Amino acid sequence: MQKRWAFSTFFILFFVAVVMVGAGMDRGSERFSMDGGKRGPVNFPHHMHQDALGDCEACHDLFPKSAGVIQEMKANGSLKKKQVMNSKCISCHRKLKKENQASGPVKCGQCHTRA
Ligand code: HEC
Ligand code: HEC
Ligand code: HEC
Repeated sequence: MQKRWAFSTFFILFFVAVVMVGAGMDRGSERFSMDGGKRGPVNFPHHMHQDALGDCEACHDLFPKSAGVIQEMKANGSLKKKQVMNSKCISCHRKLKKENQASGPVKCGQCHTRA
């Protein structure tokens, strides 16, 4: 009986691992230069965030995993200007900072490269 359980558990874990590797293959680019409008481009370390957060949906619940999609959604009105910046980037950094955890920039000039 014990052996059977051990075998089933092993088999299930193996199956889950295979699915995760398959589904997690496309992590996208290591970093992006995001369009920050008049304030200038934003250098975004993508993989660093994936490693720090361990949850794709922390961002991709708002926009899909596809290149240029934020620009497209802003253009067709399904995202407001600065919505990603305010509801994702700054809001998360601010929250983590308050909790004294590793966090990212909250000031304009620390993200946008144009003075
Ligand atoms: C902190 C925010 C954030 C997290 C977390 C995040 N992403 Fe992204 N991802 C982005 C942004 C921003 C873009 C660029 C969208 C655009 O170009 O409009 C993007 C684009 C992508 C793209 C398409 C562009 C490319 O590079 O090919 C893929 C694929 C992708 N992400 C996969 C993932 C996966 C897989 C995870 C989880 C392991 C993840 N992302 C976690 C912010 C994030
Ligand atoms: C954590 C990084 C970060 C900080 C801090 C930040 N921004 Fe942004 N900003 C972004 C990103 C990413 C975008 C593009 C996505 C979006 O529009 O939501 C953006 C977009 C913008 C845009 C262009 C909106 C459009 O579509 O035309 C302006 C203007 C802007 N930010 C101004 C500011 C100002 C002013 C501040 C300081 C009060 C600031 N940002 C702070 C990351 C940041
Ligand atoms: C859900 C939380 C979360 C979201 C959303 C998020 N970040 Fe961050 N960000 C972090 C954390 C955590 C760190 C610090 C990671 C570390 O130091 O290990 C960080 C660090 C950074 C850094 C500093 C990188 C460095 O080299 O020190 C930049 C720049 C940054 N984020 C930009 C952005 C932008 C732009 C967005 C929106 C597109 C964004 N972040 C969205 C959690 C988040």
